[in-house]
Amino acid sequence: MNLTLKIWRQKNAADKGKLVDYQISDVSPDMSFLEMLDVLNEQLINKGESPVAFDHDCREGICGMCSLYINGEAHGPDRGITTCQLHMRKFKDGDTIYIEPFRANAFPVIRDLVVDRSAFDRIQHAGGFISVNTSGNTIDANAIPINKHDADKAFEAATCIGCGACVATCKNSSAMLFVSAKVSQFALLPQGKVEATDRVLNMVKQMDEEGFGNCTNTGACEVECPKGISLENIARMNREYLKASLKG
Ligand code: SF4
Ligand code: FES
Repeated sequence: MNLTLKIWRQKNAADKGKLVDYQISDVSPDMSFLEMLDVLNEQLINKGESPVAFDHDCREGICGMCSLYINGEAHGPDRGITTCQLHMRKFKDGDTIYIEPFRANAFPVIRDLVVDRSAFDRIQHAGGFISVNTSGNTIDANAIPINKHDADKAFEAATCIGCGACVATCKNSSAMLFVSAKVSQFALLPQGKVEATDRVLNMVKQMDEEGFGNCTNTGACEVECPKGISLENIARMNREYLKASLKG
């Protein structure tokens, strides 16, 4: 396949940035999207030009590092996958592909396609944990009975990889889907009850301080989430928040 790539280039956070055109030829449909960018970067390096910076790590949909906005969609045109799991067979010979960073005030661009998502880390630090006894007398997790429905829902919420596609997709740059997944995975389990009140209050407070927008129930986040995190987590977080506020 021969393709035209329109890629966002930005030297640093202060640079204005712009789309730059690149032609790439002989792209195999079996290449992953990131492999195609690797090939482009090799060509740029051989020409003495600066390669395109983009985030990646596991390249198998686990780590949440990859984060491209492709033809106006977070993680590209496929559903239920991350950018690293997208393959070139989704495109046609002669296509023009727009490649941009995830955009949100709370995710400033560092360089080219790399954004700073440390706001998510700070939200996690504010409450995304439980306290357990690690003194050597730890109780086996299986010793606490949990009904299957709750265990399944908690597991589903725990599959959030923190990629930020929900924020990039939302017209308000809301982080509610991410934060609600992190709150839900503990809210449903007995181990999460001890810090439940502080957790939801502190995580929501941190989310607001980071500059993420409000949820207006468009549901775009759920559509683009590579892990299928459900909007029902947002409803659960709202209930947890109300309960915690009344207690507080
Ligand atoms: S909720 Fe989905 S889109 Fe948002 S950070 Fe988690 S995995 Fe990514
Ligand atoms: S590189 Fe790890 S999820 Fe894409």
